[in-house]
Amino acid sequence: MTGASGSTAAVNGDRLWRSLMEMAEIGATPGGGVGRVALTDLDKVGRDRFAAWCRDAGLEVRIDRMGNIIGRRAGVDDTAPPVVTGSHLDSQPLGGKFDGAYGVLAGLEVIRALNDAGVATRAPIEIVNWTDEEGVRFAAGVVASGVFAGRFDLDYGLNLPDREGTTTLGRELARIGYDGDAPCGGYPVEAFFEAHIEQGPVLEQAGAVIGAVLGAQGQRCYAVTVTGEEGHAGTLPMDQRRDAMVGAARMIDRLNQLAFEFDPLPVITTGHLQVRPNSRNTVPGRVVFSIDIRHPDNDVLAEICRRAQDECREAAAAARLEITIAETGGRDSVAFHPDCIEEVRSAAARLGYSCRDVYSGAGHDACNITRMAPTGMIFVPCKDGISHNERETASPSDLAAGCQVLLEAMVARAGLV
Ligand code: HGY
Ligand code: MN
Ligand code: MN
Repeated sequence: MTGASGSTAAVNGDRLWRSLMEMAEIGATPGGGVGRVALTDLDKVGRDRFAAWCRDAGLEVRIDRMGNIIGRRAGVDDTAPPVVTGSHLDSQPLGGKFDGAYGVLAGLEVIRALNDAGVATRAPIEIVNWTDEEGVRFAAGVVASGVFAGRFDLDYGLNLPDREGTTTLGRELARIGYDGDAPCGGYPVEAFFEAHIEQGPVLEQAGAVIGAVLGAQGQRCYAVTVTGEEGHAGTLPMDQRRDAMVGAARMIDRLNQLAFEFDPLPVITTGHLQVRPNSRNTVPGRVVFSIDIRHPDNDVLAEICRRAQDECREAAAAARLEITIAETGGRDSVAFHPDCIEEVRSAAARLGYSCRDVYSGAGHDACNITRMAPTGMIFVPCKDGISHNERETASPSDLAAGCQVLLEAMVARAGLV
């Protein structure tokens, strides 16, 4: 058993690690990571395993209309708004073992530790697996926690098309048997905490075990469609081409250069690109590519987005190409609740863990929930800050420490009886 002295109940770091490794077997990739993309058959297997573990821990499990899996531990005052924790089991196509899964399974370990210690809380406690945090197949991610928080309406969430335009999020939920009937949100939450690896180098470089997360930077996502004309790679002269791939390449390079015009630097990424007809010997007639722009200052973010779109339109005009730019998601920067931030700091102090304030470069479901309930995040270091990469890893002791802080913060808000 691991767990700091003076805690309400000691989390079991070995059990947490075993759960993480067993979950990582689902969608394990040859490079040592996981590929458990939302609403695929592998996501279903992970969901089924999590739901079974929740039931084994005595939780009442419900699936809401957006497929969020919610495990509930009754409180002595079961009418009180729940204290909630959660994250996501879906991953990037070549993701790591800990991004998202840590927050979901740390929540489960909190339940297991409270059960072991026979601790009853005044308010109920709920743990959540949020559907499709990553947004690999459907728009820009965090859509299910967005519906829960009232940011998006249910119809929008369920009718999100996949990238290929062949299905919708709602149809995929039904296909894997997670088209639940419980309401998605619409009820008060006492507080929400999300435990997550930092996905950056700050904590590791500072030698800190716990990050008290102040907030997360703003983000805007776009899908750019560049249209030219297909042609024969062998016969169409270069000066007569309307080559959508060359146009897109110039735009992507100009976006990369644009990032370096601002201080502090934004992050601008093109991670997804589709080519039609995608044939070696046909000049591409249409290219669709993604743009993901992030910056902590909302006004600067707006300026960068305006400049980015202008750059793309200028490059299209210069190459006699048509262009459409569709915004596919994003949000302003968010600040987490001061009481929750202080809860994390004081829990770490009581437990004797080194702690420092950090800011999140990554987006999280907590960035939605903070719109409707006092919200905080607990970061732990990951090696070299690497994430969205099969090499992502974190230490069992840091993961256990973050889980112990999560338990303390949640119990402080739920109350002991
Ligand atoms: O994109 C993000 O920041 C998150 O990892 N989904
Ligand atoms: Mn994540
Ligand atoms: Mn992620």
